[in-house]
Amino acid sequence: MQTSIDVKLTEYDLKLIEKDYDRISVLIDDTKKLNRVCRRINKLTKGAVVRAINSDEYEKKSCGEVLSISFPGSITAKYIDLIKWVKPGQLHDARKAGVNLAKLSGDSSVLIYIGSQKFSADFIKGYLLRQYSFSEYKTSKITKSRSATLMLNKPLDFKKSLEEIKATVDGVFFTRDLVNEPANILTTVEFSKRLQKLSTLGIEVEVLEEKQLSDLGMNALLGVGQGSANPSKVVVMSWKGGAKSVQPLALVGKGVVFDTGGISLKPAGGMEEMTMDMGGAGVVAGTMLALAKRKAKANVIGLVGLVENMPSSTAQRPGDIVKSMKGETIEVINTDAEGRLVLSDVLWYAQERFKPSGIIDLATLTGAIIVGLGYENAGVFSNDDNFCKTFMNAAALENEGAWRMPLAPAYDKKLKSRLADMKNVGGRDAGAITAAQFIQRFIKKDMPWIHLDIAGVAHTKSESTYAPSGATGWGVMSLNRLISDKFEDIK
Ligand code: BES
Ligand code: MN
Ligand code: ZN
Repeated sequence: MQTSIDVKLTEYDLKLIEKDYDRISVLIDDTKKLNRVCRRINKLTKGAVVRAINSDEYEKKSCGEVLSISFPGSITAKYIDLIKWVKPGQLHDARKAGVNLAKLSGDSSVLIYIGSQKFSADFIKGYLLRQYSFSEYKTSKITKSRSATLMLNKPLDFKKSLEEIKATVDGVFFTRDLVNEPANILTTVEFSKRLQKLSTLGIEVEVLEEKQLSDLGMNALLGVGQGSANPSKVVVMSWKGGAKSVQPLALVGKGVVFDTGGISLKPAGGMEEMTMDMGGAGVVAGTMLALAKRKAKANVIGLVGLVENMPSSTAQRPGDIVKSMKGETIEVINTDAEGRLVLSDVLWYAQERFKPSGIIDLATLTGAIIVGLGYENAGVFSNDDNFCKTFMNAAALENEGAWRMPLAPAYDKKLKSRLADMKNVGGRDAGAITAAQFIQRFIKKDMPWIHLDIAGVAHTKSESTYAPSGATGWGVMSLNRLISDKFEDIK
């Protein structure tokens, strides 16, 4: 499991400038007034800092961008990074500055001097989030000697927020690792093993096997996995950090470890991307890890449905009719619309067993949401305006793209089946909405619910705001913030 890099906190100490760090990084605010550290570096470099920040190159940079001085004068460090910090009122700029520095610093040891502490937390969050790479299967692994030393005026004041940031970043990294793993490694069995390890953090983990799922009547979920040699599982993770009397929040994730489409087989081009079809389950797992690591005072249950969608002689056929745990029957028109079948049973089970105060599901559910929103925003569907607003606020604060989409009975009509209570697809038009309507059929009346279609944001081909190409960990930070703002006992 990849965790965030070590960060040492240290007091203001000018002597550190002469130690053997690879880089020394400083923030330059809009007054361009040099702080104590910059003045010292400027002196040791015979005025290079002043010349740099008065140069055209520096002028052209925007807030959060970095100008580096190479092999500076009599200083041991290879680089001095001047981070343009012109509008320190902006949280996103602070993160961007951290991201930019992380991209430059790679595997080096960095001494960062932060003059004022305002927004230093977001700066560090950006820095840590971007210190991620998935090189598990590169034979010539680079040995990492990364380290960051933060020089602060009052390091002790920063200790607690650094711990919280690291807990969140570790959650994001756990999600990214799971999503980046190939499907021959991260089988349903291996996935459940990795989740069982969360028990060392105080999370109760329970694995439901096929026999139990069948006794519970989860035939919609079991139908999806019946063509695979890998057994279907539902994993329940409970974090009980809040008062006993408080009903939990439930997080439910789609965990299709590989989606071939089943008998409704997907085309070959791009099919390898379907290793990320467990992205929803990955986000649920990462959020649970973050909550446990920061000892959140909240009750949260994470549930994931782990299945593999394969074509074989035992696979589900188009036209099959299955009875869901809720008791309603589903005609499977297209075996590639499998995520909603998995979610329907896990959502029903979550409500029946835990009576949650609210429920959020996450799924790489439809290609249609990518057609609509691209790779910048997840689709947000909800039956509760207030609940939805609190989530949207959390997502905006965490800079994770989220866009609300509509639900309406007119879309639901498209799920009518000739033979069963419903069919699993509603046609090409409004594909992400009809998928959400299908899921809503398994949400009890008056249950506050949010459905997040993360097909476009869970994994990206080019780098995203906080991650290199591949898994992003989208959602862990927003959910973690939503829980800390709205579901925690008074701290
Ligand atoms: N896992 C896919 C959705 C997906 C597509 C995720 C692209 C990430 C990237 C899902 O199971 C699926 O196959 N959906 C179908 C639904 C259709 C058959 C109604 C789709 O979107 O084409
Ligand atoms: Mn599919
Ligand atoms: Zn899928």
